[in-house]
Amino acid sequence: MASTLLTSKHVAYIQSLDTKRDRLDYHLTSHLRLSGVYWGLTSLHLLNHPTALPRSETIDFVKSCYHPSSGGLGASPGHDPHLLYTLSGIQILATIDALDEIDGDKVVEYVSKLQNPDGSFSGDEWGEVDSRFVYCALSTLSLLGRLGDAPGVSAEGAVGFVLRCLNADGGFGMAPAAESHAGQIFTCVGALKIAGVFEKSLSEDQVNLLGDWLCERQLPNGGLNGRPEKLEDVCYSWWVLSSMAMIGKLQWIDREKLVEFILSCQDEENGGIADRKGDVADVFHTVFGVAGLSLLGYEGLKEVDPVYCMPKDVTDRIVWNHRKILTT
Ligand code: FPP
Ligand code: ZN
Repeated sequence: MASTLLTSKHVAYIQSLDTKRDRLDYHLTSHLRLSGVYWGLTSLHLLNHPTALPRSETIDFVKSCYHPSSGGLGASPGHDPHLLYTLSGIQILATIDALDEIDGDKVVEYVSKLQNPDGSFSGDEWGEVDSRFVYCALSTLSLLGRLGDAPGVSAEGAVGFVLRCLNADGGFGMAPAAESHAGQIFTCVGALKIAGVFEKSLSEDQVNLLGDWLCERQLPNGGLNGRPEKLEDVCYSWWVLSSMAMIGKLQWIDREKLVEFILSCQDEENGGIADRKGDVADVFHTVFGVAGLSLLGYEGLKEVDPVYCMPKDVTDRIVWNHRKILTT
């Protein structure tokens, strides 16, 4: 079992993903493609190989997923726009310093049309509502520098919806009264952090309760699960850990055991990280494994931003150094 991060294997694995266009699994994942590029690119940046994907082809691909009529982006060319892929496209362009390649005003218009009267956001015109989409909307707007300057968007309304997703057990769910889930906790805490209202929204007792719920996700094998009674899974090394980092409780995790668990899920031959040991690696679990290791301070990795899941130097450059915080 590998006891170190197999960086060059992971770089080669990610580079190989786009060369398999004749394979069935490439086509079966086309509904995720733009997010796949974001996961691969983010992994490469954190692994300190930022130029391992060709920049101009990356920009061309993002633009091919863009719908000039609505301002949203789809998962692949010809796919309907959705907030999930709109965020991925903006994250990619922000990471490679190419936001000027797309019409930011149109993207803001797309996002604003998806807000509902209760402050929540629908993922697309078909209307599914989930706290994930509040995060996608606020993250997209803030990466575009438009959080306080998006006509028709009520950030206060979005914050109100997120706070209604808070449960008595300390966690957050996908909607008011829905079960606490670590993925939703990432999106809800992240949305509050992006809006700049986390600290004033939760009391110290509420933050401690949330920290308890999150650190209880660590299992005896070192891995983290997303809810009580579920199996460990590498992606929760991100959803749980980033939430703990955002609330300042990262030290409540057994770092050594989690590092060992993530490293044990690497494909030692072909690169990539799987959800758990022995399973097939994929780029989704690769980025969240690498990003989790970055949060844990693993040697040789670039620092990741727990709020945006992007390289910290990128978010410092485009968000934190000149952010506008909600004033109400
Ligand atoms: C678990 O999903 C994860 C979530 C519910 C959070 C997803 C967050 C986003 C889409 C926002 C954008 C993300 C980033 C990193 C910028 P799952 O379907 O795997 O849950 P399960 O383990 O219960 O099946
Ligand atoms: Zn997973």
